[in-house]
Amino acid sequence: MDSISTLTFSLPLLVILLSSSFIYLFYLKRNSSNPEAPPGSNGWPIVGENINLGLLGPPKFIQKRMKNFSTDVFKTSLLGEKMAFFCGPQGNKFVFTNENKLVTSWWPKSVTKVLLFTEVIDQDQKIVAPLLANSVHEILKPEVLKKYIAIMDTMARQHMDTDWAPNKEVKVHPLTQKYTFALSCKLFMDEDDGEKVAEVLDNFRIVTNGMISVPIDFPGTAYNRAIKGGKVLRDGLIKIIKTRRKELTESKEIVRHDVLSKMLLVRKEDGSLMSEKEISNNIIGLLVASYETSSVAITFVLKHLAEHPHIYNKVFEEQTEITKSKKHGELLTWEDIEKMKYSWNVARESIRLAPPAQGAFREALTDFKYAGYTIPKGWKIFWNVNTTNNDPKYFPNPEKFDPSRFEGSGPQPYSYVPFGGGPKMCPGKEYARLEILVFMHNFVKNFKLEKMIANEKIVYLSTPVPAKGLPVRLYPHIKQ
Ligand code: HEM
Repeated sequence: MDSISTLTFSLPLLVILLSSSFIYLFYLKRNSSNPEAPPGSNGWPIVGENINLGLLGPPKFIQKRMKNFSTDVFKTSLLGEKMAFFCGPQGNKFVFTNENKLVTSWWPKSVTKVLLFTEVIDQDQKIVAPLLANSVHEILKPEVLKKYIAIMDTMARQHMDTDWAPNKEVKVHPLTQKYTFALSCKLFMDEDDGEKVAEVLDNFRIVTNGMISVPIDFPGTAYNRAIKGGKVLRDGLIKIIKTRRKELTESKEIVRHDVLSKMLLVRKEDGSLMSEKEISNNIIGLLVASYETSSVAITFVLKHLAEHPHIYNKVFEEQTEITKSKKHGELLTWEDIEKMKYSWNVARESIRLAPPAQGAFREALTDFKYAGYTIPKGWKIFWNVNTTNNDPKYFPNPEKFDPSRFEGSGPQPYSYVPFGGGPKMCPGKEYARLEILVFMHNFVKNFKLEKMIANEKIVYLSTPVPAKGLPVRLYPHIKQ
């Protein structure tokens, strides 16, 4: 390379390096202006520590920083925001008990921009608006959910017959996504047209995968595809909501028991009904919160059942007792679910080792002190299950799959919080428990399984997922 072309080549590089060094120094200086902030690193300007988090995955990223900086709280910079990670049971307790006093819910703008009609969401960026949060709890409370068990069981049976039984080998994760999404569409919108649901699911996958990617809105990027997909999704939902509103005013004969019917009747403080955009936001919030979390939970339950045949056998025994107690074809009831104690401990242990939700964001409402450090107003906060789930202090031999941890009084308070805690605790916890247990019942009733990839890699998208979708070989039970 001659000297001119070397210069042409290296000048832009030099400019970039110099300017980024200046930005970095400026950035460091700005950060040093708050010496009482928790220890930690802000990473690089603009990208912060996003790349480190992506490369390491949440558990390792957190463990490393807890070791290097503090086991109480450390700072980082993610999604373009200053952020404090609260750690351990005491960190979880602090966040859960200071809801709306020191902290409030917060969602990254990249997520809300992809998913929602942003013009009608409240300034706090809550996915489910406070008005509706109460009615979501109403819709998902145990008395209402009890009525859903028969639908869940019917759909799980159909799903086993059409998507599992005809195959010797299947990929678990795409199938559990199909099952949980179909169930959500049925229970939230009374939609059971398989083709329509499959079409929405394809679009939904694009949206959920892209919304947690680097938010660069440029043709060809995952984020750009997610934004386009989000628009298609919202347009489709608005059509459904309009049709259902018309149906409600014009035709009194159709009685539906889905979530959308209830939302169409919810009145706001001023007495008016919710707008179509507000309803759309809330249905999307529910779909996002429910489908990937539950499908991942079921996927990992099957992974662990395949890896531990003696645990599979105990689950099988428990479920066979329930099958024997019922007439041929009789659907599961709440009483049956209450008998699935061992199966639920297996699911809880599986959720500990592969948490479907990593935690949740908050925003500091005011400057406050925690563990001797100052968290400034406006900083974002993240409580995270990975600060306790793998800690031998709370879970001896943490890497061992041991459902007996949940027997008796179970883990220490605030050390096992896969659904959060306090007023913001996941309102879908009971729904998820029913969905997982009904699926486990139907699966072990029909099949044994064997993993086809011994050490399949786990990758982190918005949740941990087996990189190849968890291919398994199915062995149907011989019918006597
Ligand atoms: C294994 C499955 C699930 C797990 C592990 C899970 C976990 C969580 C967690 C950690 C949160 C955040 C709590 C916080 O802000 O502190 C949450 C919120 C929420 N979840 Fe779940 N969830 C699951 C399934 C479901 C299901 C099935 C539904 C609905 C039927 C649901 C609906 C919601 C809603 C509406 C929110 C609140 C969103 C907001 O206000 O921004 N979740 N969930």
